[in-house]
Amino acid sequence: ARKLAGSLLPPPPYDPSNPSLLAATSAVFAAGILVAFPSAASLGVELKSFKCKDMRHGDYQCNAAMPLYQKLKAAGALPDGVSTPQQVASAIIDAIGADNPVMEDLKVNGPGFIMSRIKASYLLDGVNDILKNAAPTKPVLTAQSGNVVVDFSSPNIAKEMHVGHLRSTIIGESVCRILEYVGADVSRVNHVGDWGTQFGMLIQYLKEEYPDFTDDVPNITDLTAFYKNAKMRFDESPEFKKVSQLNVVKLQAGDEECRKIWQVLCDVSRKEFEKVYNRLDIKVTECGESFYNDKIAPVIGEFDKAGILTSEEGGAKCVWVDGYPQPLMLQKSDGGYGYDSTDMAAIKYRIDKLGATQCVYITDFTQGDHFQMVFKAARKIGWVEGDSHRLDHIGFGTVQGEDGKRFKTRSGDTVRLVDLLDEAVSRMEASLNERIAEGKAGITKDQVHETACAMGYGAVKYFDLRRNPTSNYIFSYDRMLDTKGNTAIYLLYAHARLESIISRAEADHGVNVDELIKGGQAIVLGHKSERNLALHLEIFADCIEETLKDLYPYHICDFVYNLSIAASDFVTQCKVLGTDEMQSRVLLCRATAITMRQCFQLLGIRHVMRI
Ligand code: ARG
Repeated sequence: ARKLAGSLLPPPPYDPSNPSLLAATSAVFAAGILVAFPSAASLGVELKSFKCKDMRHGDYQCNAAMPLYQKLKAAGALPDGVSTPQQVASAIIDAIGADNPVMEDLKVNGPGFIMSRIKASYLLDGVNDILKNAAPTKPVLTAQSGNVVVDFSSPNIAKEMHVGHLRSTIIGESVCRILEYVGADVSRVNHVGDWGTQFGMLIQYLKEEYPDFTDDVPNITDLTAFYKNAKMRFDESPEFKKVSQLNVVKLQAGDEECRKIWQVLCDVSRKEFEKVYNRLDIKVTECGESFYNDKIAPVIGEFDKAGILTSEEGGAKCVWVDGYPQPLMLQKSDGGYGYDSTDMAAIKYRIDKLGATQCVYITDFTQGDHFQMVFKAARKIGWVEGDSHRLDHIGFGTVQGEDGKRFKTRSGDTVRLVDLLDEAVSRMEASLNERIAEGKAGITKDQVHETACAMGYGAVKYFDLRRNPTSNYIFSYDRMLDTKGNTAIYLLYAHARLESIISRAEADHGVNVDELIKGGQAIVLGHKSERNLALHLEIFADCIEETLKDLYPYHICDFVYNLSIAASDFVTQCKVLGTDEMQSRVLLCRATAITMRQCFQLLGIRHVMRI
């Protein structure tokens, strides 16, 4: 059964400016319940409505009659003539009456469920708003105005950016767009790993291989190979190892030469990361681990002063938090700082200096404990109190190859992201060229590449976003590029189909959509599939509110997928071009296309107008 969420207070009264269907139906149901049974709220009965899982019997339903009946009976407060839950439900329906603005067709189902349909007049208001504003109506939200730091992508310098980082990048971009959409001030932070011990050997290797590096900045194109070679020498030569370790200390202490080489290496990596970001329309600002180097000592001091810093055997400085068998290590026994130290300094900086009221971290799920401990430590020291801040870690699962193992190339190497993206695009190009050859395409040869990029990258992103991030998935080009099923390709085709109907109405039938909107052309929801489409459009606001709870973009994927199915059903069942209903139906196409584009935008997917 569905978990009842939220308080048991009656929902706020009906507010026509709130586009949430859940809010509107809840308000009407609650008003009816309180008229019929004024004691309902004080009896602790949940007065909310739910979207029907199976929409054949109704759009929204209220389940309050059964618990209400039980409570009234127990209290000996059942009114005369009411002796079953169904009769409680009937009394509620009578109290709601026919002239409420939201629902019609109210009836009792089964043991006392109240089923309802949304009124066509209500749906039409919604569609007209979309057309008038050229955008779906935003949900009415509270407390989305703060500063939010989203820590995502965050690859490691000198190491290859792998599919795990791709997941973080794709999910993070969408999370940022969603938060920005509802008005939050978002800092997109790329917490790159630019400060690890690996730099000792990289610096040493560069010094030895490129002795004149100061005058002639080496052009390292293959940093992975560079890393491998450095690692080889590190493992082979104890002498090399020793100087490497010294380099780490020198670098962290600000030694000029080490800093310079470090900078060169960071720049090479940065250029590689940028390539991926540019292709995927990712915006993220680098603020890597090194940035916090001088902020760690004061943080350790603060923990010390608060009396919650412990000195472990060997001299490491730690903070213990409830529920974890190991502590956070703020300083290693050799005096160095590590991942924990940096994250404690970073969260303090984000809360204090950036004024963040919400921090979101997006990494693979294995770092879940790390972040829960960081959050607990931030509470323990008092940076976070009660619900002063919202701290989220979105931990995602592993990307697997078709063999079910970690995604690798045939030779066992990590898959280079640029290669992966190239492959998606080239497969898409092949399929578009075929379409052109068959005479089915709405694009010309010179548009193939751009369209293939939008579709290929969109497919990779959507394949990831459409599921709960905590799940693992098997990477499959065939499945992500499928024109049928829950893929970006299907959605982009559905959108282009709507746009093609609109442009043919304009070109061949003299329809001017903008003029129709300005002139207030009436829309008629005569056919079942027209009504169903309008209803789906209206669910957008609730979908966004749902998404904000856990920040999982798959809610938006589910929404836009269901919307596309409703739209496909509509254009299959209802002829648009050249019919009496053409004007009304073209407007429905437009409202749907607008809403789909907004969803694509939130998912970071570029739409195309024709394919
Ligand atoms: N560089 C880390 C990795 O590759 C991710 C960093 C996540 N952000 C953070 N503040 N720890 O796994």
